[in-house]
Amino acid sequence: MPLVTSKEMFEKAYEGHYAIGAFNVNNMEIIQGIVEAAKIERAPLILQVSSGARKYANPIYLRKLVEAAIEDSGLPICLHLDHGDSYELCVQSIKDGFTSVMIDASHHSLKDNIAITREVVKYAHDHGVVVEAELGRLEGVEDDIKVSAEESSYTDPDQVEEFVTKTGVDSLAIAIGTSHGAFKFKGEPKLRFDILEEVEKRLPKFPIVLHGASSVIPEYVNIINQNGGCMSGAKGVPEDMLRKAASMSVCKINIDSDLRLACTAAIRKHHAENPAHFDPRQYLGPARTLITELVRHKLVHVLGCNGKA
Ligand code: G3H
Ligand code: 13P
Ligand code: ZN
Repeated sequence: MPLVTSKEMFEKAYEGHYAIGAFNVNNMEIIQGIVEAAKIERAPLILQVSSGARKYANPIYLRKLVEAAIEDSGLPICLHLDHGDSYELCVQSIKDGFTSVMIDASHHSLKDNIAITREVVKYAHDHGVVVEAELGRLEGVEDDIKVSAEESSYTDPDQVEEFVTKTGVDSLAIAIGTSHGAFKFKGEPKLRFDILEEVEKRLPKFPIVLHGASSVIPEYVNIINQNGGCMSGAKGVPEDMLRKAASMSVCKINIDSDLRLACTAAIRKHHAENPAHFDPRQYLGPARTLITELVRHKLVHVLGCNGKA
């Protein structure tokens, strides 16, 4: 089976009131950990590569690893560019074999966001690739760009119809209070489900994407803190909120920070318990295993996409 786009995945997820997990990948162990979970749970998958991941690993290596994952698992897998910041990067990713790209021009004016997104959609659709765009701005850090609380903004539901009609985009990321990274809320977690409901009314049957959707699992944060780390105050999106979003029009839920926490927790614990170990397989193996455990939990208890491949 070749790489697939997310079109059919989203149609089924919308109708079935579940969401597809979009997991960020940076190396072989992360890919293997995620794919093993999806294999066990028979779940469709989106594996996504940020521009930071492209620089770190080289997109060709990542694509080849994802192709190996398809051969090994027989699962439908979509390879997605996460937070593409320019037309050129989206085009290059399509040339590199990606089947889905995100053009994130959310920091531009509405007019410019529409113009840039429309240009990417034209090229992508001519090449059989689907496009995600973003309206509104999430707080947090992605690729060294820090968006402060003051600079972040909720999506305005009054803009979504115009945006989707004028751009022809296939899915839309909206800002309802999630943010990137491990420190998402200072006080009680709160998401603006009223905005999601308004968007849903204006865009019936249209797939919505939720970025910044890690739960920042306390168990992993505790392991890190107990083994020399310092992550006090880390807080994520409660799982019941994510399940509610998945039962609504949210068809894609982005998860990166939880993978990072699982990986770091396993490695820190391993080194604390085995100070003489220096073979990377000895600590990357447990990291990969914990990623599998984490992703199985997400697929079954948060996304509800187990058994849907
Ligand atoms: O949304 C951002 C993702 O977590 C990717 O992070 O740019 O550090 O690879 P990164
Ligand atoms: P988290 O930082 O919450 O995992 O979000 C990841 C993300 O949105 C990737 O695009
Ligand atoms: Zn994101």
